[in-house]
Amino acid sequence: MEREEFLSKLGIGALAVCMGCSMVACSKSGNANPSNNNVNTPPAGTTFSVDLGSSLTAVGDSKISNGIILVRIASGNAISSFTAVQVACTHEGTAINYNNSQGLFICPLHGSEFSKSGALIQGPATTSLKQYTVAIAGSTLTVTV
Ligand code: FES
Repeated sequence: MEREEFLSKLGIGALAVCMGCSMVACSKSGNANPSNNNVNTPPAGTTFSVDLGSSLTAVGDSKISNGIILVRIASGNAISSFTAVQVACTHEGTAINYNNSQGLFICPLHGSEFSKSGALIQGPATTSLKQYTVAIAGSTLTVTV
């Protein structure tokens, strides 16, 4: 049985199938709702570990994993030497970058800017990035959502 014949027997036309496809595509596109940045944040329980002996050795170094961007913002291995925020911009979900010379997270798509702690500085985004807890044990840094 051909697909078209099968769908016809079910009473589903090609238009309905296409509408379903486009509706799925819309729901997976970026977060166009700036009032709800939960859409672009990693799920609770997400962790991200880094060996500080070999990673993030220079101020400004960053690493992205599991929807989180982790950045060394100062020398030493104190918790305050690092910041971790959601990597998805709260405007439309584009991955942000850390600009070390400006000390800001900047979205490359429309230019929203966020502080080291993720606070909104400049739109078009209207909400801050979520910041996550950093813990250090020995030479292992772990970010927990
Ligand atoms: S996606 Fe528009 S400013 Fe980031």
